[in-house]
Amino acid sequence: MDFKINDLNDKLSKAYLGGGQSRIDKQHAKKKLTARERVNYLLDEGSFEEIGALVTHRTKDFGMESQQFYGDGVVTGYGTINGRLVYIFAQDFTVFGGSLSETHAEKICKVMDLAVKVGAPIIGLNDSGGARIQEGVRSLGGYADIFYRNVQTSGVIPQISAIMGPCAGGAVYSPAMTDFTLMVEDTSYMFVTGPNVVKTVTNEEVTSEELGGASTHSTKSGVAHKTSANDIECLEDLKTLLSFLPQNNTEAPALLPFQLEDEIRDSLSNVIPDNANKPYDMHDVIGGIIDRGSFYEIHKNHAENIIVGFARLGGRSIGIVANQPMFLAGVLDVNSSKKAARFVRFCDCFNIPLLVLEDVPGFLPGTDQEWNGIIVHGAKLLYALSEATVPRVTVITRKAYGGAYDVMNSKHIGADMNFAWPSAEIAVMGAKGAAEIIFKKEINAADNKEAKWKEKEAEYADLFANPYSAAERGFIDEVILPKNTRRKLIKAFSMLEDKKVERPKRKHGNIPL
Ligand code: HXC
Repeated sequence: MDFKINDLNDKLSKAYLGGGQSRIDKQHAKKKLTARERVNYLLDEGSFEEIGALVTHRTKDFGMESQQFYGDGVVTGYGTINGRLVYIFAQDFTVFGGSLSETHAEKICKVMDLAVKVGAPIIGLNDSGGARIQEGVRSLGGYADIFYRNVQTSGVIPQISAIMGPCAGGAVYSPAMTDFTLMVEDTSYMFVTGPNVVKTVTNEEVTSEELGGASTHSTKSGVAHKTSANDIECLEDLKTLLSFLPQNNTEAPALLPFQLEDEIRDSLSNVIPDNANKPYDMHDVIGGIIDRGSFYEIHKNHAENIIVGFARLGGRSIGIVANQPMFLAGVLDVNSSKKAARFVRFCDCFNIPLLVLEDVPGFLPGTDQEWNGIIVHGAKLLYALSEATVPRVTVITRKAYGGAYDVMNSKHIGADMNFAWPSAEIAVMGAKGAAEIIFKKEINAADNKEAKWKEKEAEYADLFANPYSAAERGFIDEVILPKNTRRKLIKAFSMLEDKKVERPKRKHGNIPL
């Protein structure tokens, strides 16, 4: 028996060494942790249980028979994060560059299937040279097996991807179909075709970092939801993100213990400038409402005219969507609509109540926006909010103009509670533009056109640049003092806790993609 036990230990020791010490040293020299180090750091100490440590590939071509590494380039299994069960796979770059073989894919599919059956999040730590070149179509099939599961799993359990090395070719489409993609700065990149192919096809010279680095994807493309300076920060970020989410779509996120105190926040009384055209930072409003220091921003540097992220409010996990007057005056445009719509749909899938903070002058005008489809992209946000059945509360802090008033979680599209601050202006458009259009003849006929315009602007502002016209019709449930906002919202979300909405039976809606 001793011999057999030694044999097993010998095999496991080999598995734990992945592609061997020299390749591990290379990985460290690139300032990257190994797959096992990542898993051990992310999961609660001693909680990791590995599945498939002794799996090997089945390829016989290109002399692969003699190159066998236990685990076949991916570490898979389950464990806990802050006591909560998660399933995990971590690609091991020290084995064939973490490339995906048929067996490597089977291992990933196995933990994905278990995660769905049990109802716990699946986390993928990606670090791979893509399809195992020696395996050809078997590798491509393996990818498709994973893609298919990504889709079947979507909206059932949270799926989170961390990109901690290369992720190229069709491999990018698995992270793209998960709920969140985190990237490590300088050591990770994602692209469908790399710089060499780009040069051949378009004659464009571009580095990997410029083409698909963390900075590119967190600012320009929006593919990355969050970036971190190194592996450790990324894994810490992942843990924090998970803390806001439930285990699956039948559960609510954990309610943290909470004592009602610190409810009146005077700081909120001074956020809105006297001049309605002056910007202010919506983060100050968010900070003034939520449990202190709890905001976890998603897509921070992409489409900055809208802010989205998770926070705690009275211990409850909520999703926040907020116009940001500091950027483009907080208008809705193509990118901000897509960013917010995707976030709303995630929250709705996973029973996370939504808070919308509104200060929006409308949709961004111009050929650029129209030609890029602001109509269809703006409709995404309208659709996403209209179909969301989680508790939905809105606070209008200042402008709620035009179609954007409807879109930003108005009562008319199913919001449950709509509050406005006394500074709210709920109208078809700003008073100046409105006066110019509807009093055009009077202004043109006046001796002093400027004075007439000002007079008419004031008349319109008096009538509509306030929350009261909307409140009279019940479109606003209550006009509240800014300092009371936190208290009102804690009570509103608590009141809405058991909200249930039945929808007509259908296969699925047809969101304007
Ligand atoms: C097999 C691979 C591999 C791959 C890397 N390796 N990529 N083995 N299949 N796809 C192996 C290398 O042979 C090497 O083995 C080890 O991994 C480390 O690779 P290096 O090149 O030494 O590392 P580095 O210099 O850091 O470069 C990393 C890299 C490069 C940029 C990822 O390896 C690379 O360009 N690989 C090929 C990428 C690629 O074209 N993949 C296919 C994409 S198409 P040794 O034994 O020396 O350690 C695709 C289609 C998917 O993925 C479609 C899905 C639908």
